[in-house]
Amino acid sequence: MGKYIHGYLTEEQERLMSQAGILTPLIYPFIDLKNRKNVLEIGSGVGAQSQVILSLYSDLDLTCVEIEKSQIEKAQINLSGFSDRKINFVNQDAAELNFGEKFDAGFICWVLEHVEEPKKVLRSVYEHLHPEGVIYLTEVFNSSFYFLPKLPGLERYYNAYNAYQIQSGGDPDIGVKLGNLLHEVGFGEIELQRGGFHLDQSRPEELKRMTAYWKELMKSAAKPMLDTDLISENDVREMESDLEAIAKDSNSVFFYQFVQAKAKRKA
Ligand SMILES: C[S@@+](CC[C@H](N)C(=O)[O-])C[C@H]1O[C@@H](n2cnc3c(N)ncnc32)[C@H](O)[C@@H]1O
Repeated sequence: MGKYIHGYLTEEQERLMSQAGILTPLIYPFIDLKNRKNVLEIGSGVGAQSQVILSLYSDLDLTCVEIEKSQIEKAQINLSGFSDRKINFVNQDAAELNFGEKFDAGFICWVLEHVEEPKKVLRSVYEHLHPEGVIYLTEVFNSSFYFLPKLPGLERYYNAYNAYQIQSGGDPDIGVKLGNLLHEVGFGEIELQRGGFHLDQSRPEELKRMTAYWKELMKSAAKPMLDTDLISENDVREMESDLEAIAKDSNSVFFYQFVQAKAKRKA
């Protein structure tokens, strides 16, 4: 994997749990795992998506693949309420999956943006799906971010954040490329959809909630960006105050699109 820009500190592990809470209503309407018994989740992190999947689908068994052991340890705690369910935690690199079994479905959310060879991960999942097995992906498209008023502190920080992700071997625009990647790997029946938000003062509470969430997301990469001199402490403060100003400005616009994909392994 490339260098993971968010890191594995406790506060970041907690951010993943609250992020899932905020974004769940935007992500899950596209996903249908009914009648899929054996589901493979890639890059399961601390189990933030796993808990949603387990709650929405009471019959499926879940295999959680994660490259970082400390994430698995935290996921085991976060998912302890599902002790009656079959959950298998596996410490593997998703680019080189190694299972004796095949799965009915694959699920990937906010992971390929961090991976140096996303096609390798998709190929590895393809090989571990039954014929007609389905894959669902949800990934970032950071170039879609648009905001008003055009505050330079947020703009500068956001550009540095994306540059840092690219430097770390990731791809902040991976979402928009999912269709081609799935096609090249051999998946069929590819469907793409955009999700996200378009907020302004007509929905001030949502705007406030999302700008507050965005602040935490941006801050999650602050430490390594400060350590590598990509940003200064002042840049962090300006990014925060710009987001607070956007929440209040009477002409504010806050817009972002991620991309979701569904595809099937050919029969
Ligand atoms: C942003 S987190 C998302 C976690 C979870 N999907 C969620 O939405 O809360 C990305 C996770 O993918 C894991 N990851 C990155 N590259 C991986 C790889 N090659 N194989 C398995 N896991 C990987 C990271 O360690 C991290 O826990």
